Amino acid sequence: MTTAASPGLAGPAAPATPATATQPSRSLVIRNLVKAYQPGKPVLKDVSLNFSTSEVVAIIGPSGTGKSTLIRCVNRLVEPSAGAILLDGIDLVKLRGSELRAARRRIGMVFQEYNLVERLTVMENLLTGRLGYMNAFQAWLRRFPQTDIDRAWDLLDVVGLQDFASQRADALSGGQRQRVGIARALMQQPQLILADEPTSSLDPKTSVEIMTLLAEIARSQDIPVIVNMHDVELARRFAGRIVGMSGGQVVYDGPPAGLGDDMLRQIYGGQSWMQ
Ligand SMILES: Nc1ncnc2c1ncn2[C@@H]1O[C@H](COP(=O)(O)OP(=O)(O)OP(=O)(O)O)[C@@H](O)[C@H]1O
Ligand SMILES: [Mg+2]
Repeated sequence: MTTAASPGLAGPAAPATPATATQPSRSLVIRNLVKAYQPGKPVLKDVSLNFSTSEVVAIIGPSGTGKSTLIRCVNRLVEPSAGAILLDGIDLVKLRGSELRAARRRIGMVFQEYNLVERLTVMENLLTGRLGYMNAFQAWLRRFPQTDIDRAWDLLDVVGLQDFASQRADALSGGQRQRVGIARALMQQPQLILADEPTSSLDPKTSVEIMTLLAEIARSQDIPVIVNMHDVELARRFAGRIVGMSGGQVVYDGPPAGLGDDMLRQIYGGQSWMQ
């Protein structure tokens, strides 16, 4: 079913090998996370979750329940009100400045609207994923090391876009754009991928292809891939674990098989929408 091969990931700049006894395990631990945009009106209410296995975890829940807020708190696009977010044991909530930037580089982000630079080529979009690793002078000159360029070619192979390297992003279809977005996230050699509705702008077939690619990446990179999504059937099909949120709290955390109609009613409320 999958078209995504992984040999390209074994290049010289490939990520470290999976955790061993001497390395810290790759884990994200969210502990008692609270976010209130307005004082006294928390959007996230004491959310605790552990992610440590290399699998796709789908976060589902009704609109406005705090799924995007949760993901944005993890990479600190949104400032948490209380709680801890431990990436390999380091609390991201306490980091500032260069330490925060370094931690952010370890988290790959994938967005619904791709967030590509439209007037740049596919290759240039990938290489911008490395800007955070370069000194200011190199970045200003866009003088990318050969290892980065080699890695970008490898990743374009992984996402099936080698023939599109010199195309401008604005000439690509939605599915192709999302592949570029995923490859760009992988350029950072992330320990974790957070994807906020990566398939919501795509047709059903392309959505399946993108989820297939994300599942393959979780395996080949040995990292958790956490995906906010609205399509429950797609979540069941591709996620090893589903987190159901309602009213800013986790109400289900388990395998797709345990997500029955009663639980879906609890997550989404009512039942008029169910067939
Ligand atoms: N920057 C912000 N300032 C104030 N309130 C916000 C902000 N961002 C989100 N909210 C509010 O927080 C709540 C949760 O929003 P969030 O975007 O996290 O939900 P979501 O589960 O991702 O929804 P959707 O499925 O529609 O994407 C909503 O009530 C929203 O209006
Ligand atoms: Mg959202």
